[in-house]
Amino acid sequence: MTLTEVDSTNNFLKQALANSTPLTDGTVIMAESQYAGRGQQQNKWHSEPSKNLTISILLKPAFLPVTQQFNLNLAISVGIINALIPVLGTGVKIKWPNDVYFNDKKLGGVLIENIIQGQIIKNSIVGIGLNVNQTEFADWVPNPTSVKQILQKDYDLKILLSDICAYIEAAYLVLKAGNIDRLKTFFMQNLYWRDELHSFKTTEGVFDGIITDVTQAGQLVVSIDNELRLYSFKEIEFLNK
Ligand code: BTN
Repeated sequence: MTLTEVDSTNNFLKQALANSTPLTDGTVIMAESQYAGRGQQQNKWHSEPSKNLTISILLKPAFLPVTQQFNLNLAISVGIINALIPVLGTGVKIKWPNDVYFNDKKLGGVLIENIIQGQIIKNSIVGIGLNVNQTEFADWVPNPTSVKQILQKDYDLKILLSDICAYIEAAYLVLKAGNIDRLKTFFMQNLYWRDELHSFKTTEGVFDGIITDVTQAGQLVVSIDNELRLYSFKEIEFLNK
């Protein structure tokens, strides 16, 4: 379903579920324009009308125990970058936990909101924002790029939408089949800054470290002076030079 204007496609789906609207696994909501798009960590997600992809996909991963929530992030990230690599090449990376990067710039992001009942994930709202044909960004947007800035030409939103949905579906089926290792391997192969020495910042200060892994629970594993440390989202910041 395409909406001309909405506050946020994630809110729209959340509201529809709260109103007991019958929605099937795989429902996709796309907005031409979002006036209150949301990002991770209470950030805003700003997207010029009709230029980008702002979508939410409803999934019902009842097969996935709450303790394995991060595997859904793996599947979504894998699906998105599988769709983007043929278009943009190998500069496309996943920045932990699930930003979409091209070289050192942010091309898009994912906001997954799970509705949990007991030990199972009843509904998962997978919000995806990707900068496609926008070329000017507000000053407060950190480090943005778009498909158009990379390719120097417009890209068809409908084609990208259909490819992203197809690749996410394929990755979701791999997840459903329990083939986590396959998703994890691809995720790790395409992880931004993996096995490279870079600067990070935590409450303990600034230090250099090497990302070596991501745990089952989704924590980032960083090797600092040959000692492995685990970080949860929000506990560590990547410092780009
Ligand atoms: C991030 O990088 O912080 C995540 C951005 C997620 C933005 C998308 S756009 C579609 C969906 N609706 C929202 O309000 N947010 C997500």
